[in-house]
Amino acid sequence: MNYITEIQRLKREKNAVILAHCYQNIEIDEVADYIGDSLYLSQMAAKTDADIIIFAGVYFMAQTAKILNPSKKVILPNLKAGCDMADMINLQQLREFKNKFPNVPTVCYINSTAEVKAECDICCTSSNAIKIVESLKSPKVLFLPDKNLGRWVEKQLGNVEVITYNGCCPIHNKLNPTGIKETKSQYPNALVLAHPECVEDFLNLADYVGSTTGIMNYVKNSNEKEFIVATEKGVLDRLKRDYPNKKFYDINNTPSICQSMKLNTVKDIYNALQNEAPEITVDKEIAQKALKCIERMLEVSK
Ligand code: 13P
Ligand code: SF4
Repeated sequence: MNYITEIQRLKREKNAVILAHCYQNIEIDEVADYIGDSLYLSQMAAKTDADIIIFAGVYFMAQTAKILNPSKKVILPNLKAGCDMADMINLQQLREFKNKFPNVPTVCYINSTAEVKAECDICCTSSNAIKIVESLKSPKVLFLPDKNLGRWVEKQLGNVEVITYNGCCPIHNKLNPTGIKETKSQYPNALVLAHPECVEDFLNLADYVGSTTGIMNYVKNSNEKEFIVATEKGVLDRLKRDYPNKKFYDINNTPSICQSMKLNTVKDIYNALQNEAPEITVDKEIAQKALKCIERMLEVSK
């Protein structure tokens, strides 16, 4: 069976849309309607008129799409696709963190569970984190779960104290400054582009720091020909495909792979569409509270 053709047919038949994060296996792009970073995909999820949303991404992304579309069927092709960073903070840990700093507004990265979002003031993605923290007009904010993104935002703004929770993305957090130095010595003409989920000492050595979309746009608008790209392999795969005349290198020539992001396959997507499962559900009360946190972000990001 040709899964690609079958998926296209089922999409039309069932009025379904496929959203795919740039960290997904690249062959998924062939069947996806929207491909992008977390912010773009949440914006597309908010305005789709499809009856079924297939989210080729990880659990918190599909959960966010469901919260934005309570009456639609939202399907995550492989239910095992979680996010290690989102799992680093649960409701009890969030409450303990908030209790230490009463009356300080709380920003949660979109990489968090619905329960956590339900008790935070506003959420953000790596594309809009600076804008979101700024929008609160508070001298202090709590930021979770990603300490690295929080530190980076604090540094960019300069006038807000960002109190970070001790979470991180294991994939980005393991990239270290020695890795940049060694790779730079191998490719001295290459610019270093890094995701803000990397540690501060690493980001200090980068030529550009930005989200998935930020990195892709940087390459698009740059006349440079060589780039060391410090983020998940999916971004490099797409850059290599889209810019065959430019060269892209991994830190230490070793791809950074989020195994969870790679769990969804084209076959899983076919099965998901065919069976309309596995469906994501969110407790109604939690969903209503989490929706406020997500909608505030979308409003600020307009
Ligand atoms: P962005 O899509 O905001 O760049 O985030 C990267 C990420 O780690 C998603 O899980
Ligand atoms: Fe989570 Fe990191 Fe994987 Fe993104 S790359 S889904 S933050 S573990």
